[in-house]
Amino acid sequence: MPISRREFIMKSSAAGISMALWSDALSAELEYLKHYKEKVGDTASLVSDEKFWSAVRNLFEPVKDFINLENGYFLAHPISTRNFFQQRTMYINSRSSWYMRKEQEASREKTREKLAQLVGCDKEELALVRNTTEAMNIVIMGYPWQKGDEVVISDQDYGSMMDQLEQAANRYGIVIRKIALPMHPQSDDQIIAAFTSAMNPKTKMLLLTHMINLTGQILPAKEIIATAHQRGVEVLVDAAHSFAQILWTFEDLDADYLGTSLHKWLCNTLGAGMFCVKKKHISKIWPLFGDVSLKADDVKKFEHFGTVQCAVYETIDKAIDFHLMLGLQLKEARLRYMKDYWTQKVFDMQKVSINTPLEARRSCAIANFKIEGLTPNELADKLYKDFKIFTVAIDHPIVKGVRVTPHLYTSIQDLDALAAAIEKIVSG
Ligand SMILES: Cc1ncc(COP(=O)(O)O)c(C=O)c1O
Repeated sequence: MPISRREFIMKSSAAGISMALWSDALSAELEYLKHYKEKVGDTASLVSDEKFWSAVRNLFEPVKDFINLENGYFLAHPISTRNFFQQRTMYINSRSSWYMRKEQEASREKTREKLAQLVGCDKEELALVRNTTEAMNIVIMGYPWQKGDEVVISDQDYGSMMDQLEQAANRYGIVIRKIALPMHPQSDDQIIAAFTSAMNPKTKMLLLTHMINLTGQILPAKEIIATAHQRGVEVLVDAAHSFAQILWTFEDLDADYLGTSLHKWLCNTLGAGMFCVKKKHISKIWPLFGDVSLKADDVKKFEHFGTVQCAVYETIDKAIDFHLMLGLQLKEARLRYMKDYWTQKVFDMQKVSINTPLEARRSCAIANFKIEGLTPNELADKLYKDFKIFTVAIDHPIVKGVRVTPHLYTSIQDLDALAAAIEKIVSG
């Protein structure tokens, strides 16, 4: 059995580990969690160990005036990450141009290297950008399109990616083919066939959302990419929700291009994203912001977006440390456990239906549900006004419901409160 938090801190002091080694009480909490994890070891035991997760919760500062189950937009960061960000913001702003001229580049290189290791690509294939939108725009606006080139997308891709492609269609004369993605797929083959049915010799690219933001559905990305490659089609992956939530690497997926935001599941502060691109493609993609000072095959050409808040990029280092302290395997398992926990409670309730495939490999943290007779907005409003539960209404042509996204700090009591609220709503 792991020792209690109090015991751990006392024993550490007795063993001569000075509290001075830890910058503050938070560091002691982090050390305690590491120790707890090492003692218990296996993911299967930790995933439902509420004592452990309550210690994790202490590392965050969840809001107190409502239950936040809308963590899909921006995931609050741990206090340690925020503290680091604040310290670095002060430092950078006091050093001003000195930092920009003398320290910035080395710091970005260090971050690029650490992030590349995490996502599983070469650091020369990774550009630090501002968010997913920017990463995806780099490819959509910078690909050397020829009139008549075709792009395959699904009807559940993120709206602004569809907008970008529509603009590219107006500007370059490319053709967009949209497939209907099954919400409850029977098999991987069904999904793959839906994509391949829209491909033809003119197809140059497939836009693939790894995890659909509307429902949380995870697509079999590796298999879809392999099939696209067999047809000579390059794949641009929107990994906004899959990065740091579920296990994969850029190398293993074999994607051509990939974009994500780091303020989502990596829990970094707002303002940084990541763009990965296979080395062989770098030369042919135009950077969004003109740059002829760097060689065409230098990935840094995609980073030329002017002067920005550098502390956000420095903080990635700490966000990764926190992420690694928990470990992706455990993080993914816990997030899936929470989704399973509340969906199982409401699954059989009258009038409730789940818009998310619940098999383990087809969803993780995010799920979407609806209640017959209520519009998505009415349901989300009711949850907030009557029960102080914050979710988000998804009123989309294909998906109608409310999206529920727990965070690592979400407690089982929060999920019980959600299930109880749903029960009250359906029972009138
Ligand atoms: C699937 C998906 N792609 C892209 C984005 C855009 O992310 P950002 O606004 O950080 O660029 C989101 C945001 O929620 C998303 O869910």
